[in-house]
Amino acid sequence: MKILVTGGAGFIGSHTVVELLNAGYDAVVLDNLSNSSEKSLERVEQITGKKVPFYKADILDRAALEEVFSKEKIDAVIHFAGLKAVGESVAKPWEYYENNIGGTLTLVDVMRKHGVKNIIFSSSATVYGDPKFIPITEECPKGQCTNPYGWTKSMLEQILSDIQKADPEWNVILLRYFNPIGAHKSGLIGENPTGIPNNLMPYVTQVAVGKRPELGVFGNDYDTHDGTGVRDYIHVVDLAIGHVKALKKIEENAGLRIYNLGTGTGYSVLDIVKNFEAATGVKIPYSIKPRRPGDIATCYADASLAKKELGWEAQYGIKEMCEDAWRWQKTNPNGYDD
Ligand code: NAD
Ligand code: UFG
Repeated sequence: MKILVTGGAGFIGSHTVVELLNAGYDAVVLDNLSNSSEKSLERVEQITGKKVPFYKADILDRAALEEVFSKEKIDAVIHFAGLKAVGESVAKPWEYYENNIGGTLTLVDVMRKHGVKNIIFSSSATVYGDPKFIPITEECPKGQCTNPYGWTKSMLEQILSDIQKADPEWNVILLRYFNPIGAHKSGLIGENPTGIPNNLMPYVTQVAVGKRPELGVFGNDYDTHDGTGVRDYIHVVDLAIGHVKALKKIEENAGLRIYNLGTGTGYSVLDIVKNFEAATGVKIPYSIKPRRPGDIATCYADASLAKKELGWEAQYGIKEMCEDAWRWQKTNPNGYDD
């Protein structure tokens, strides 16, 4: 089976390409490199010994998509391509709706014209808003997103679900990721944020490597065990393997499915600091800052549906997530720019 991976040069995409190749699938990558480097694909080749066809193209570019679908015999699409910076989406809502929603509509239109009706979509736990209950099952009602990025995920879930309902030949799998961190064991691929990292783990690793003086902890007055925000951190390799399992489901003509991909365990910000220090031996200075607007206290998954239906369960614990994130950061202090 040949899989088109949009956004395949990015953080989760590059790890997924490795796992696809390991599992014997053929992969083709399409990415406009707006938030990634082609070097990630050279590293994928180094890890797997396989060269992946790469198209530098935008999902908004219909002609470029037509070319890819005409040249390659694609069986299914894993669709990672999208803009993902929460704060930036508040400042540039039009750009986020255009890129994420406009891009996906164009992609799906070209797919159906070429008879390709299998898609796995990168959704997010953000669609639950402030969740009605914890741990969060897929039955938990979707909530109010606090930013345009989150709305693009929520709206795209709706759009893809409606398309599948109207034409049952489609297989649509919506994967709601919790908080992906870590990196491939080789230390060759990992997260490569531009500028100041928004997310916790890349910030921690940049403090550890000396690029930033200290971590700001956004609030210590939440209703959690130590007052800091609790999240479900998941190793990016586990997440990548979740996509390979979802492909098997697509091969069974699963119709529309929604799965949480998380570990089911919540860690606070200070738990992460302590676990990172214990796993790496590097001290992380921090200070308490005001709450970050839009943040919620607690978010972790009940991932039992993915276990039952996909046979998928996260294998890596917090120690490996910290060790692997650190190995990547320490050997590539400037990401792919080294
Ligand atoms: P990333 O930025 O590393 O990867 C996204 C890739 O898409 C990048 O390589 C970027 O260049 C590419 N891209 C963006 N717009 C494009 C366009 N118009 N055409 C072609 N390529 C385009 O991000 P990631 O962390 O690997 O996230 C992958 C997907 O998972 C995204 O859709 C993201 O929203 C979603 N997601 C991420 C997280 C997270 O915490 N990392 C959580 C939930 C969901
Ligand atoms: N945090 C800090 N300091 C920082 C960065 C984060 O204290 O410098 C805290 C946050 O307040 C939060 C926790 O660390 O309590 C995790 O924050 P992240 O920014 O790493 O992750 P979020 O849970 O806010 O959001 C992430 C992605 C979203 C996605 C969501 C659910 O950024 O895109 O997970 O999947 F929607």
